[in-house]
Amino acid sequence: MIYFVKKTDIVMSRPISKVEVKGFEAMFYDAIMDTISLGKYRKFINDALSKIDVPNGGKLIDFGAGTGRNIEIIRKHLERKGVNNIDFFGVDIGEVMSKKFKQRAKKYNNIHFVKHDIRKPLSFEKSSFDTGLISFVLHGFIQEDRNKILSNFSHLIKPNGKLYILDYNEIDVNKAPFYVKFFFRKLECPLAEDFANKNLEEMLKPFGFQKVGESYYFKNIIRLAEYKKNSN
Ligand SMILES: C[S@@+](CC[C@H](N)C(=O)[O-])C[C@H]1O[C@@H](n2cnc3c(N)ncnc32)[C@H](O)[C@@H]1O
Repeated sequence: MIYFVKKTDIVMSRPISKVEVKGFEAMFYDAIMDTISLGKYRKFINDALSKIDVPNGGKLIDFGAGTGRNIEIIRKHLERKGVNNIDFFGVDIGEVMSKKFKQRAKKYNNIHFVKHDIRKPLSFEKSSFDTGLISFVLHGFIQEDRNKILSNFSHLIKPNGKLYILDYNEIDVNKAPFYVKFFFRKLECPLAEDFANKNLEEMLKPFGFQKVGESYYFKNIIRLAEYKKNSN
């Protein structure tokens, strides 16, 4: 029997979020990032993460830490700058990502893994960390969950501590060049455009963070935003 399907019956839908990286993509996540960026990702991520500041003997927590590559890069940069005795904590929920992280962290005694949903409060005491990082994760949540994640950071980061957000910059996709439109509307999830429409400074204010610096990458589409936790 032959069935004819009307074109209008086929609904082409995009997932609302792609932040839970699973299976093949998780297995080869770092290699995929290097390849789809035509080799540019490696230089970019090294440059961006060289700006992360942690004091001697401090603690850093990375939400949605993935394979642990970012923590390993930060560790190397800090070591070169003579910043020592840092404890790094990577938090992630993905099965494959957790395995990859633990495998990578084996060779270091100061890189720790916490399997946890970053939307839920963590068991660390208030103000346990000098520095927080969230890289290519925040855009993938609805605003209510972004606020829960920021509230968790607010609890964990010390007064005058730093929070770094590496993610999409504020962009009006309607006015952007065709390739940016194509990227946001065909390749990324709808939440990415929602995030790009938001003012990050306003989003962070209620959680006690104020902007202290920004760096831009990939024709200003990506931003590393540096925030400081208020002292009160
Ligand atoms: C796009 S990847 C980014 C990984 C890494 N931060 C980087 O910059 O390469 C998103 C990561 O967030 C993790 N993730 C997604 N939802 C999460 C949640 N609710 N709690 C903790 N981790 C989560 C995924 O497992 C994945 O490792």
